[in-house]
Amino acid sequence: MKKPDKSVAYAFKTEGLTRAFSGFRAVNEVSIEIPRGGVRTIIGPNGAGKTTFFNLLSGLFPPTSGRIYFGGIDVTALDPYRRARLGIARSFQITNIFAKLSVYENVRLAVQAVHDGSANFFLPARRMGDLATKTQAILGDIGLLPVAESLAENLSHGDQRRLEIGLVLARDPDVLLLDEPLAGMSPTETHATVELIRRISPGRTIMLVEHDMDVVMSISTSITVMQTGQVLAVGTPDEIRANEAVQRAYLGGLA
Ligand SMILES: Nc1ncnc2c1ncn2[C@@H]1O[C@H](COP(=O)(O)OP(=O)(O)OP(=O)(O)O)[C@@H](O)[C@H]1O
Ligand SMILES: [Mg+2]
Repeated sequence: MKKPDKSVAYAFKTEGLTRAFSGFRAVNEVSIEIPRGGVRTIIGPNGAGKTTFFNLLSGLFPPTSGRIYFGGIDVTALDPYRRARLGIARSFQITNIFAKLSVYENVRLAVQAVHDGSANFFLPARRMGDLATKTQAILGDIGLLPVAESLAENLSHGDQRRLEIGLVLARDPDVLLLDEPLAGMSPTETHATVELIRRISPGRTIMLVEHDMDVVMSISTSITVMQTGQVLAVGTPDEIRANEAVQRAYLGGLA
């Protein structure tokens, strides 16, 4: 399979990207470039099409029309597994976690699956050592070293969501799509997860959908505002805060 071209300035480029459900265009003719690197956030009111846009980028379902490019490659027709192999990762649901295994074993199996394409428990000691180093590094990044021996099912909601991100990090993806990673989190969990996103963003592109405006404004390199399936504005946090159309349509109470 062709490899993504890292010299291409964008992570994703879409052309006329459209997804209709029974004739209703949830994403409507979106043509944008998401620059490579940084935290690229999408905001917009409920039903604006943010999750549908992510689903199109990750390949969960095909667009009704339009095209998607990733690092110069037309990925429009590729399924999520092929896109994952190109470096596009999406954190899905807690169902990816093995509830009855420890946090450590969950991450170790994810690391091993990526490196060996298998989940064989019996390995030579040296290979085991390589896996352990990578596993420890990810546990450090997601802040779960202190609970590494706990069963995954006994973790708090916030810790489970961070573990989920850890399983995705095992692939060392170039682009990570996070749809409302802070949903349902306590303030402490929110803080820890924002720190996690900051820690893992160097060297990759993080795409984020988030409603918490304090977080969005503090963490984002750029913000894309969606409304009724279309892009209303793109800019830095300061530009978006100052944008009158955005104020009217969405941010109303923010300033
Ligand atoms: N599988 C589907 N079948 C039918 N309609 C859908 C489907 N998925 C999304 N929609 C519709 O498309 C529109 C956009 O939904 P989407 O979930 O992308 O919005 P969103 O911006 O993520 O909203 P939220 O902030 O509430 O998560 C909504 O009107 C939604 O009802
Ligand atoms: Mg959504």
